[in-house]
Amino acid sequence: MEFEGSGWIRDGVYYYPHLFGGIMITCALLSFSTSYFGFSSVPTMPHIFPDLRVFHKKKSSKKRVRVYMDGCFDLMHYGHANALRQAKALGDELVVGVVSDEEIVANKGPPVLSMQERLALVSGLKWVDEVIPNAPYEITEEFMNKLFNEHKIDYIIHGDDPCLLPDGTDAYALAKKVGRYKQIKRTEGVSSTDIVGRILSCMKDVKVDKDCQPGEFENLNNTHNNKSMAKGGHVSHFLPTSRRIVQFSNGTGPGPNARVVYIDGAFDLFHAGHVEILKSARQRGDFLLVGIYTDQTVSELRGTNFPLMNLHERSLSVLACRYVDEIIIGAPLEVTKDVITTFNISLVLHGTIAENNPFLNGKSDPYAVPKSMGIFQMLESPRDITTTSVARRIIANHEIYKKRNAKKEASEKKYYAEKKYVSAD
Ligand SMILES: *[C@@H]1O[C@H](CO)[C@@H](O)[C@H](O)[C@H]1NC(C)=O
Ligand SMILES: *[C@@H]1O[C@H](CO)[C@@H](O)[C@H](O)[C@H]1NC(C)=O
Ligand SMILES: *[C@@H]1O[C@H](CO)[C@@H](O)[C@H](O)[C@H]1NC(C)=O
Ligand SMILES: *[C@@H]1O[C@H](CO)[C@@H](O)[C@H](O)[C@H]1NC(C)=O
Repeated sequence: MEFEGSGWIRDGVYYYPHLFGGIMITCALLSFSTSYFGFSSVPTMPHIFPDLRVFHKKKSSKKRVRVYMDGCFDLMHYGHANALRQAKALGDELVVGVVSDEEIVANKGPPVLSMQERLALVSGLKWVDEVIPNAPYEITEEFMNKLFNEHKIDYIIHGDDPCLLPDGTDAYALAKKVGRYKQIKRTEGVSSTDIVGRILSCMKDVKVDKDCQPGEFENLNNTHNNKSMAKGGHVSHFLPTSRRIVQFSNGTGPGPNARVVYIDGAFDLFHAGHVEILKSARQRGDFLLVGIYTDQTVSELRGTNFPLMNLHERSLSVLACRYVDEIIIGAPLEVTKDVITTFNISLVLHGTIAENNPFLNGKSDPYAVPKSMGIFQMLESPRDITTTSVARRIIANHEIYKKRNAKKEASEKKYYAEKKYVSAD
């Protein structure tokens, strides 16, 4: 499911530090971020984190441990989400620094997603309590002190992959020296490099001209190409376990008399538009159930190179979103009477402009049943971004990404060659 539209970022999802312990984020940071997005006033957070407020009341006796983790979070995936879940488990409140576009350009080359898109994705994760936009790529002494003094951070967290600065020194040496560093294990078999690789591999059979004309990517629907995820063509190192799904799950069903809202789609290459539409859907009820199409359904809808992420990968990405209560792993395209009855669905939603919805072109309407029951609504799609548009950005810059990926793939290969048993979760 993909959506287009505009005007999504106005409600200030990112600026909720004032909810915690009455500590206001520094004026400097606030005005910086405010000017970045052109807000005219300080945004408030009226309704988004009810569960955190409950925490808030319970505390007071014991100091809450605040942990910090940073990253680029470009092409965010469930590996990032899992790292942040692990980081959160080392404290009570998780503050995430999102590295600025400029710093990423300087250190790794152009990011695929903009700062705003990366912020939207990180803020949408259920384990993230606060976000610091435009974080520096390296933790300088000055920034570290700012974290400790202004943001009241207790520990800085990083994965166990070494993070070296250009001069060969450890980027976290300072934090280690003062004993305020904690490490988590990298466990997930996915990386942004790997995802870029999947998109670039789709290109091999396609003639791409320099500007990658709109419509070009649709040519990737090449039925002679056997590379689709549904056919097991993309290499995925992801081993979906039941425990991981439980860790990502909310764990509760709808309460008594809850209004259950249903929305379905592919949710391929989970992006900022998905976060927005899920948030909007969640606001229409008490419990959001998300149906995730099978790989085969997505291939039928979008062409043989899709989905880029397989069903289990897509499921974890959706589950990691704070607005989602429950998912159906492999939902039917058609919303049947049985689905509606089984889950006591009160409202079925569909985005106004979805990517490739051939059912609107005369094929049988998968929403016929909810329509006949009067419980179907179109939802204004808030965001001008689709899976195809993200993939197209990579294809348009394929020279740069190919080069970058070749370099990264070598280190990824090394990582897998040396990978050891990881007992931590
Ligand atoms: C694709 O798969 C079909 C069988 O499913 C096989 O006959 C064909 O040779 C394959 N094509 C390529 C390019 O691998
Ligand atoms: C089904 O949902 C409606 C609200 O839409 C609610 O009033 C009703 O109690 C729910 N039924 C059950 C059995 O929970
Ligand atoms: C992909 O191509 C096949 C055959 O060329 C066509 O039947 C199918 O509708 C196309 N799918 C999309 C999403 O364009
Ligand atoms: C998840 O569960 C908590 C209670 O455990 C609940 O307050 C919250 O609304 C649920 N849904 C989401 C999307 O967090």
